[in-house]
Amino acid sequence: PSETSELQEQVLLLKRKKNAVILAHYYQEPAIKRVADFVGDSLELAKKAAQSSADIIVFAGVHFMAETAKILNPERKVLLPDLNAGCSLADSCEPENFKKFIDQHPDHVVVTYINCSAEIKTMSDFVCTSSNAEKVINAIPLDKKIIFAPDKNLGNFLIEKTGREMLLWNGACLVHEAFSIDKLLTLHKKYPSASIIAHPESESHILKVASYIGSTSGLIKHIAESDKKSFIVATEAGILYDMQEQFPEKTIIPAPAKENNSCACSECAYMKMNNLEKLYKCLKNETPEIKLEKEIIEKAALPIHRMLELSN
Ligand code: 13P
Ligand code: SF4
Repeated sequence: PSETSELQEQVLLLKRKKNAVILAHYYQEPAIKRVADFVGDSLELAKKAAQSSADIIVFAGVHFMAETAKILNPERKVLLPDLNAGCSLADSCEPENFKKFIDQHPDHVVVTYINCSAEIKTMSDFVCTSSNAEKVINAIPLDKKIIFAPDKNLGNFLIEKTGREMLLWNGACLVHEAFSIDKLLTLHKKYPSASIIAHPESESHILKVASYIGSTSGLIKHIAESDKKSFIVATEAGILYDMQEQFPEKTIIPAPAKENNSCACSECAYMKMNNLEKLYKCLKNETPEIKLEKEIIEKAALPIHRMLELSN
């Protein structure tokens, strides 16, 4: 339903009163996305955060995304409706261990996927997202060795795409590792004319059978531009409803999850920790707020700015 609820009206009112902007990731619940000023993937949201002139940025997404917004806006208040909205991929790269890893390979350029903590970003030369990772890797001179962290699946995909050798950190997203290749192939036999499309955080055997691989926005754009009528989509399940709503004439089929997976479906439980009620309260009380030390902000800003320059 497109009607706005009373709570949504109150959010919109508060937002105007406080000169706040709401940035929401695609994986947020529909009620949040409807009150957001902007909905996008990681790169688009980082760009919007960099351009913001609002007094308050409410980041409806996960912790590392709100941190990125804070790093790009140290003078502004950045709020996250639930501070526990983390990310399994970011959690798989712990700063102390990562420091040891890069110290063991001192002659390497360090590229990190934006899904990591601010502290990891301070140890990076470049940050990238799934939309611009290839561009970032290709901008590094051929004689330089590369460390890529934390996502090994995206890392392997980039090795194949760019032909560059890279040392990979052994991290992964539990949501995108939930897909079963056997079930996917069985499903494809049932819908042979459907095109398999996937987010690059998916495992390599899934990516191998995909006819298109891209970020959240990339996947949506691909569906919009393709002549195909049906798609089996391997990415976070919540966004599939949006895809179906946006393209009613096309059939969007979720890629099936493995059995006994800790994640019963492929929805991101971290993203879903935020809800409209928490968003309203956080805007009203101006808490929880993202706080980072000045030194972390200054160091982490460098690789993010390098990424944004390359993405213009
Ligand atoms: P996008 O860059 O596609 O938004 O990916 C973010 C993310 O966390 C995917 O799991
Ligand atoms: Fe992190 Fe995976 Fe959730 Fe994206 S889908 S926020 S990578 S846990």
